[in-house]
Amino acid sequence: MRKNMVLVFLLFSFFLAASAGNFNQDFAITWGDGRAKVLNNGQLLTLSLDKASGSGFKSKNQYLFGKIDMQIKLVPGNSAGTVTAYYLSSLGSAHDEIDFEFLGNLSGDPYILHTNVFTKGSGNREQQFYLWFDPTKDFHTYSILWNPRTIVFSVDGTPIREFKNLESKGISFPKNQAMWIFSSLWNADDWATRGGLVKTDWSQAPFTASYKNFNAQACVWSSGSSSCSSNSSGSSSWLSESLDATGKERIKWVQKNYMIYNYCTDLKRFPLGLPTECSVA
Ligand SMILES: *[C@@H]1O[C@H](CO)[C@@H](O)[C@H](O)[C@H]1NC(C)=O
Repeated sequence: MRKNMVLVFLLFSFFLAASAGNFNQDFAITWGDGRAKVLNNGQLLTLSLDKASGSGFKSKNQYLFGKIDMQIKLVPGNSAGTVTAYYLSSLGSAHDEIDFEFLGNLSGDPYILHTNVFTKGSGNREQQFYLWFDPTKDFHTYSILWNPRTIVFSVDGTPIREFKNLESKGISFPKNQAMWIFSSLWNADDWATRGGLVKTDWSQAPFTASYKNFNAQACVWSSGSSSCSSNSSGSSSWLSESLDATGKERIKWVQKNYMIYNYCTDLKRFPLGLPTECSVA
């Protein structure tokens, strides 16, 4: 009896681990000359930055839609001047892109989570947030739901931003270009912290960010066709998922309490009128 329990437990943990993905299998280190490392048999990835270079990685697969989770622990201590970017992007001048960027800060001062959406090469859709926890103490889950209806950014399961498909109102939506997942840690002390006022303190280098538990329910795009994954009960409901009433309430809560910049309210920047998507509910 007890033996069976142990076996069940072992099998269960195996499936959990297997579904969490493996950095050796799913990603390739693209730059940084040894500063990016895959550890623990592919269960952990670290990026580092020092005065000579940052580092980065890229998914091996290209995806056209997905529900993608990554757990990230950001650079602790004095991370001012550093930026950890985690994003989906296609290539080329008319590329689409869905961005999370984490702007570092002095010890004890809050990180900024910067988000943006690019369609056909144009972005200018920034929203910035503080987080309701210290993102350097533990791993937290940063998720992107991207399907033909909507894009939802979430943090630990709480939606913080939605970019809906409003093609019917003449706004372009990323749905024709497959994207890779990218991440990088780099120096951006000309703008990242308090608009560039606080510089990177190189005496604190190397700066390190860590990644684990990558999980993608997604459509993998390969030589012109895509195959979409379903969950254990055979459902690919994520492909048509959108925010429910609770999700909309959560976004309102985050925007009310943690949003520090919204392009949709920046009349100085758009004196001729806010972007169309800002006025469509
Ligand atoms: C850093 O801390 C300062 C002071 O609290 C704050 O104004 C700023 O928004 C924080 N974040 C960044 C990335 O500058």
